[in-house]
Amino acid sequence: MDRMKWFEEARFGMFIHWGVYAEAGRGEWVRNIERISNEDYQQYVDAFHPEHFDPVYWAKLAKEAGMKYAVFTAKHHDGFCMFDSALTEYTSMHTNGRDYVREYIEAFRDAGLKIGLYYSLIDWHHPDYPHYGDRIHPERDNPLFKDYEYDFDRYLTYMHGQIRELCSNYGKIDILWTDYSYDDMTAEKWKGSELVDMIRSLQPDIILNNRLEASGEGFGSLISDHPSVTSGDFVSPEQIIPPNGIRRKDGSHVPWEACITMNNHWGYCRDDHYFKPAVMIIRKLTEVVSKGGNMLLNVGPDEEGRISEESVRVLKDIAGWMKKNHVSVHGCGYSGLEKPEYGRITKNGNKLYYHVMEPMIGGIPLTGIKRSQIEEIRLLNTDEILEISDTWITGNYPDTVFVDLGPEPILPDPIDTVIEVKCKEELSI
Ligand code: GLC
Repeated sequence: MDRMKWFEEARFGMFIHWGVYAEAGRGEWVRNIERISNEDYQQYVDAFHPEHFDPVYWAKLAKEAGMKYAVFTAKHHDGFCMFDSALTEYTSMHTNGRDYVREYIEAFRDAGLKIGLYYSLIDWHHPDYPHYGDRIHPERDNPLFKDYEYDFDRYLTYMHGQIRELCSNYGKIDILWTDYSYDDMTAEKWKGSELVDMIRSLQPDIILNNRLEASGEGFGSLISDHPSVTSGDFVSPEQIIPPNGIRRKDGSHVPWEACITMNNHWGYCRDDHYFKPAVMIIRKLTEVVSKGGNMLLNVGPDEEGRISEESVRVLKDIAGWMKKNHVSVHGCGYSGLEKPEYGRITKNGNKLYYHVMEPMIGGIPLTGIKRSQIEEIRLLNTDEILEISDTWITGNYPDTVFVDLGPEPILPDPIDTVIEVKCKEELSI
């Protein structure tokens, strides 16, 4: 599909979870986990006056790390809006005189990145969202709310109205990431068809995730033979890389984007220092690309608007690797070849990228291709042209093509050494 082209070439984006929950510093689900009422949450709303919000710097970090787009939380489940809305006073415009969505969009657009907005379908602040008996609402088991009356239609009018604002007031929006459906709260319960029609009429090229029908759980109708209007454009696996990518029953590929945290929380969590090392994220990114997906890597800036030092370090390390190796990620996807024992293979047209993560003895076997198909082999790390190795050692395996990286037993790039193999013709998958 045309509108998906840039997205499937981009492969790597930045997720940004930032809102009032950063003030509490215990993740964005703090209200649910600690059953915090609207009244008790107000202390964090009042205290939230970030002084170091610097979206220009965020955009620079993202761009240098090879990210081509970002998705920013305009409103999370707590209901607090990081944008100017005519429909509520529960906004950063009201508390701080700032429209953070606008500032984010301007900075990221200026950096040449595509713009995504996250909008929570769930709303723990709105009086007309189901409280008692809902599976996740902070007041789900508070008897005071047992006979509480609400008008869900009123909530839907509000929610549709806010999405209309986001799709009308900020120029071109490239992705709308609605979050999420559960139990019977799905598709038409959200008046989903009407919502999608409205979104697409305002933003004809916008890409939607599948969460008007699903969440990290389930795929929705997108993987079926007859996707409905609310299916969205891509599947959104959360905190997992699907073992075989995502496919329909007939084996055809469905676009997907794995969203992954750097530590173990989306929103800022003061005590969570369990960061994934850059080497792991780089290797997981190549895994995602080799399976035909995108990675949306999260940062959770703190209450002052600072991205943590750990995250900055990881992003800079990714940038270092990307500088030399980005061509093996951007525009690349599933190769149709079996995964080699030392790493992964990605493909862009007639170029195959062998990602070598484990040193081999006796040369590196370029599995899945024949010598006669190869035009040129190049090491991305140094740009050096490599020759096919023909030795008495490899001679016993005449059907396998080997390359030799020289006397140094350690890989030139210990994170992921990429060998580009230019084929005479594109291999068919
Ligand atoms: C979720 C969570 C949420 C997070 C997100 C990211 O389902 O509720 O806190 O924003 O998805 O994928």
